[in-house]
Amino acid sequence: MIHLHPSGKVTLLEIDNPPVNATSQAVRQGLLDAIERLDTDPAVGAIVIAGAGRTFTAGGDITEFGKPPLLPHLPDVITRIEACAKPVVVAWHGTALGGGCEIGLAATKRIIAPDGSVGLPEVKLGLMPGAGGTQRLPRLVGPVVALDLIASGRMVGAKEALALGLVDAIAAGNLREEAVALAESLIGQPPERVSERPVPASDPTAWEATVAKVKKDAKGRTAPLAAIALVETARAEPFAAGQPKERATFFDLMASPQSKALRHMFMAEREVARVPELAGISPREINHIGVIGAGTMGSGIAVAFLDAGYRVTLMEASEAALQAGLDRVNGLYLRSVKSGRIDETIRLERLSRLTPTTEIKALAETGLVIEAVFEDMAVKLDLLGRLGAALPAETIIATNTSYLDLEVMADALPHPERFIGLHFFSPAHVMKLLEIVRARRTAKEVLATGLAIGKRLKKIAVIAGVCDGFIGNRLLARYRAQCEFMLEEGALPQEIDAALEAFGFAMGPFAVQDLAGLDIAWARRKRLAATRNPAERDVPLVDRLCEAGRFGQKAGKGWYLYAEGKREVDPEIDALVRAHAASTGRAQRSFSAAEIQSRVLTTMINEGAKILGEGIAARPLDIDLVLVNGYGFPNWRGGPMHYADETGLARILAEAEAIAARDGAAYAVARLLRELAGSGRTFASLNASER
Ligand code: 3HC
Repeated sequence: MIHLHPSGKVTLLEIDNPPVNATSQAVRQGLLDAIERLDTDPAVGAIVIAGAGRTFTAGGDITEFGKPPLLPHLPDVITRIEACAKPVVVAWHGTALGGGCEIGLAATKRIIAPDGSVGLPEVKLGLMPGAGGTQRLPRLVGPVVALDLIASGRMVGAKEALALGLVDAIAAGNLREEAVALAESLIGQPPERVSERPVPASDPTAWEATVAKVKKDAKGRTAPLAAIALVETARAEPFAAGQPKERATFFDLMASPQSKALRHMFMAEREVARVPELAGISPREINHIGVIGAGTMGSGIAVAFLDAGYRVTLMEASEAALQAGLDRVNGLYLRSVKSGRIDETIRLERLSRLTPTTEIKALAETGLVIEAVFEDMAVKLDLLGRLGAALPAETIIATNTSYLDLEVMADALPHPERFIGLHFFSPAHVMKLLEIVRARRTAKEVLATGLAIGKRLKKIAVIAGVCDGFIGNRLLARYRAQCEFMLEEGALPQEIDAALEAFGFAMGPFAVQDLAGLDIAWARRKRLAATRNPAERDVPLVDRLCEAGRFGQKAGKGWYLYAEGKREVDPEIDALVRAHAASTGRAQRSFSAAEIQSRVLTTMINEGAKILGEGIAARPLDIDLVLVNGYGFPNWRGGPMHYADETGLARILAEAEAIAARDGAAYAVARLLRELAGSGRTFASLNASER
């Protein structure tokens, strides 16, 4: 775990705990023992701490979290490092995060590799740094910068770290050699300790502005608010008084439901890529992608692939449509340059990999073709027929459909085993979620290729089976309907939106519908009208709104009014909803926010349990990832299935039974929910491999 490399009077201490040198119990013990030994060894004049492999250290071992803490504690190890009578230099490379950053803060000097980065990302796990970070960082870089870094959890690159005073030098060549040379130059000097420094004075306006920003960005999360209190402590009290307060906050947060949920998300994001049945199956190497359809979705998909280094051939039916698509792609890139996300050189390089075409045969040289044409089965079947004839038998063909039946589409293709769903979310170059839809005949190699593509695109790729709406849209359809049912029972759209926004959703469902356009829901309703079970509860309010031209934000009115883009409650909608509700003859009452939340969440969880029971999603964590990354579910609640476990399945079951009794067969209680609640088990018990 810890290797010592003597070099003259300097000894380099190397942390070696793959894959990311987490400061596990063994690492902490090894570090402590080594520091004790080196500090008392007269042959050693100075010490360098470095990391083996890809990164210095990613900090505290997340797999130990939530369990009884094991000795020695990291803060004590770090205090011992700082107490060393000899100078200590830390050599940061890769990502020096959390405890890895905190080790560095206790050193005499810090040197970083030019491509290294450093940060305190604990807030992303619902935590605060617990090994001195909140007390030492303000002393090193000032309280304003410290608060920004601790509350946002963002990583800073080498240049910014130097500008902020977080590091003393950026290595010009060999990091370790330069760290050893720096340590050598310090031999004989009494080590300067960060914890002994006063917190530098700060501009009160800048401090107030940063505090205000942290509060605004917190949006229900408690950890960022703790950052304010802890940096205040650092300003007001000596290090010795601040550190125990930091430690107490760390343990309080560790026990909080928010941190538990965020740790579940961290693990789920990594677990999702582990698909046992694909073990040993190699994905195909694909570097050239075809995208058909250059509308909002298609052009976003093209940009997502270009951003990830692929060559892209973008096809449209006519020159005019193609030009409009290229304008869209160009527009997205120009915006990225303007916002400073990329520079002009990168923009031109990315665009140089884009080939526009109106010829289907130009797609023959690609390895995978994604269709993102109009969401209509006849249009898609016609296109798939032509693709089948024009492309080699091995070209993977993917659809970006949100709802349509992949089995029917696969029938239109020779070699249906190369057919797969790649369901992107709009804007496709921004949204993290990718649903990979496997049809009955999809080959495992094709599925593995879909996952590998998702990884290269840096998406959270979740495998789903075929059903109407796959995982996300199927849940969405159910809970959105439940929201409309409440409109028939006395609730107003703004009350439902407010309740769900208070729960933590980025936007309420009616505001989201306005953003996406009500015509989408209307078209789907019309498509499903012929097959709708007349016994099923149905709310025709969307039809009424669309008939009145209320298509949402783009029309300036939908469920709300949009005067200069601002969302406003419309008394006309209140009247329309009330009149419709009265016409149903249902009893009218008012709803509390808690009731609204419980009904919506239970509907989501019950449908999630059905999806699991049917094998559409393999694990509860897959559903959690879909809802959090594609549907605005607050990540600090951990997704609906995690939330269900935290709430208690007996309570969810009771609510699900009430919903089923009122709203009919489509809302029947899922067998799996009943079984788990009945046997005292949890959804988490089905995330078998999640640690
Ligand atoms: N503890 C334990 N395991 C960790 C870990 C950690 N801190 N960080 C990463 N890992 C594991 C991952 O689970 C993954 O395991 P797997 O291969 O079995 O799935 C493996 O290391 C590789 O991680 P990634 O797949 O995420 O690799 P990337 O290269 O994409 O990312 C990373 C590397 C940027 C280090 C990213 O893993 C990350 O952000 N890690 C979390 C860092 C963090 O939050 N640190 C703070 C911890 S809290 C703390 O330090 C408390 C202290 O203040 C007392």
